[in-house]
Amino acid sequence: MTEQPQTILAISGSLRARSSNTAVLRAAGKAVPGHIKFVPYEDLGELPHFNPDIDDDEHEAASVKNLRAQIASAKGVLFCTPEYANGVPGSLKNALDWIVSSGEFNAKPVTVISVSTFPTGGEKALESILLTLGMLGAQVGEAGSLKIPVISKKLGEAGEVTDEATLQAIRQLMENLIQRMNA
Ligand SMILES: Cc1cc2nc3c(=O)[nH]c(=O)nc-3n(C[C@H](O)[C@H](O)[C@H](O)COP(=O)(O)O)c2cc1C
Repeated sequence: MTEQPQTILAISGSLRARSSNTAVLRAAGKAVPGHIKFVPYEDLGELPHFNPDIDDDEHEAASVKNLRAQIASAKGVLFCTPEYANGVPGSLKNALDWIVSSGEFNAKPVTVISVSTFPTGGEKALESILLTLGMLGAQVGEAGSLKIPVISKKLGEAGEVTDEATLQAIRQLMENLIQRMNA
């Protein structure tokens, strides 16, 4: 019997077409070995606003069902998020709120990157999402997060990550995530 390939689900907290967070996710995708499937989550903007009244089998939206299924089937999850107004973007927090009752993050190996144009690297968003993921039972660990400050200086003309120190940090982060996925 052939084994299913391991999957990393990659969730960007930015809906922008030319998002630097999504560019960092692309760099992370290039850093994983070929036997691992790196799957970008595409439907963050499609999720309904979380409302406990529609969080049941009867009302579950297809987009919510799909998010839950994608997290459940992934061996690990990678987030890359901007900071908006000192916090996590509403659309990303909304996605996390949908997972509170269904529990797919419980014991899931997760890695989180915050990316900012500011020198602070989105530290408040990172702190905040780590608190939420902790509440959801995700397993992030000591080496499972990274802040990338002043992203504008680390991208090439096509919007790809070109800064070697940043690429190296991303590679280490992915190695750590894969180790935890196989522990
Ligand atoms: C509405 C808004 C609020 C922002 N607030 C913050 C903030 O509080 N802290 C921060 O570090 N960056 C803040 N930024 C800058 C983002 O970090 C920056 O735009 C980042 O590149 C967005 O990520 P993206 O390129 O993936 O869309 C804000 C940007 C916007 C549009």
